[in-house]
Amino acid sequence: MCLCSLVVLKLEAFLADPVAMWHVRAEIAPAVLLVVDFGGWYRLESKSWNGNSSDVIQHTQVSLLKDVIVPYTHLLPRLQLTENKKRQTLLYFKGAKHRHRGGLVREKLWDLLVNEPDVVMEEGFPNATGREQSIKGMRTSKFCLHPAGDTPTSCRLFDAIQSLCIPVIVSDNIELPFEGIVDYSEFSVFVAVDDALKPNWLVRHLRTFHKEHSDRFRQKMAQFQPLFEYDNGHPGGIGPIPPDGAVNHVWKKVYQKLPMIKEAIIRERRKPPGVSVPRRCHCT
Ligand SMILES: *[C@@H]1O[C@H](CO)[C@@H](O)[C@H](O)[C@H]1NC(C)=O
Ligand SMILES: *[C@@H]1O[C@H](CO)[C@@H](O)[C@H](O)[C@H]1NC(C)=O
Repeated sequence: MCLCSLVVLKLEAFLADPVAMWHVRAEIAPAVLLVVDFGGWYRLESKSWNGNSSDVIQHTQVSLLKDVIVPYTHLLPRLQLTENKKRQTLLYFKGAKHRHRGGLVREKLWDLLVNEPDVVMEEGFPNATGREQSIKGMRTSKFCLHPAGDTPTSCRLFDAIQSLCIPVIVSDNIELPFEGIVDYSEFSVFVAVDDALKPNWLVRHLRTFHKEHSDRFRQKMAQFQPLFEYDNGHPGGIGPIPPDGAVNHVWKKVYQKLPMIKEAIIRERRKPPGVSVPRRCHCT
């Protein structure tokens, strides 16, 4: 976590894909941002943006101190723990092999894993067939691969959770929603990119998880399923939100950040006029 000296000019909340809010990034940076990840803000490879680093939001402008990571909406239906059946496939991944940026790991992993027995890597279609494929894949596999893609997170992780498929997160640096409320290590496997790219390493590692271990992970995951639910189940979404769902947890996180934001504002106000305090945030 980075300890930035924050300048909070206004307190507003936005639910935004960072890239979608690109053109107003300077104006909204001081606000409390609700984002699915910081990928679009400061982790972009500079060459994707004409090599001009001033086009990229500075890391002093986003921070886990003030901003809230929110989950993607999952696309697959929830599998209840009681409906869980025996899973034959060890590891499942569906998605594009190639990614335009930051997806080199994915491509290498694909080549390493595609011919492994018990591993299913499939290219998907963005239609009903693809959806059926994902539901089947995620419900019949013990583990679901979550490689670094073009953004550190995607709906894949939340689909895996709803399908009770143990997420295998291959990313050295990922921001996840509701951390502090959710301990992802209780139901996910975190793998360093270097390890994942060693031939046979990942499959061998996953095989060391015994049934009791996986069952424990799956029970924990089932407890957290409702937390990632935006949908209240009413037609058109009209009606009360589920009290233990995603929306209330977003507000809980905003509420938790307020004391730190208030402190930063007070510190900022007491500065003698004309003094500029250097920003000290060094989060890479
Ligand atoms: C980078 O962008 C800034 C502002 O958008 C501009 O002033 C500067 O000339 C650009 N630099 C390069 C090398 O393109
Ligand atoms: C989905 O797309 C694939 C590839 O284009 C196609 O073969 C399949 O029939 C499509 N399925 C549906 C339900 O449209």
